[in-house]
Amino acid sequence: MNSFDPLEELVALAKEARASAYAPYSHFPVGAALLTASGAIYTGCNVENASYGLGVCAERVAIFKAVCAGDRQFEALAVVSETMAAPCGACRQVLAEFGLATTIVLADPEEGRQVLTISDLLPLAFTPSSLPRAGGERNMGQP
Ligand code: THU
Repeated sequence: MNSFDPLEELVALAKEARASAYAPYSHFPVGAALLTASGAIYTGCNVENASYGLGVCAERVAIFKAVCAGDRQFEALAVVSETMAAPCGACRQVLAEFGLATTIVLADPEEGRQVLTISDLLPLAFTPSSLPRAGGERNMGQP
């Protein structure tokens, strides 16, 4: 079989990003790859610090790279770790800011896969539309 599977492609890129993880304290490397509506893919890995609390998850690295590049419409995010871990609570909240329908693929380096959405991971999410001015001021900060 050589059919092209975009989600598998995303997992492959997340796996590649995982190889760049800087995780000397947890020894738990994580890789992420985020596909946006423009077709661009942004990768991330976790980056830890001797001041432990300053470490950043792979997911947020990928998300912030996308937003900084002007891509805020997220289609799918692949996350690869040894245990097929789901994004932490902080990353779920950051993802929810940009939409609840984004597909999430949890993967391990082998065959393990689970496909779900942000809504599955963060029910009853607090989002921009939870603020009094519905939708919030999502364009604030734009030149
Ligand atoms: N980590 C991630 O990068 N993403 C996750 O989904 C869960 C946890 C990182 C944070 C830390 O560097 C290491 O994994 C152990 O918690």
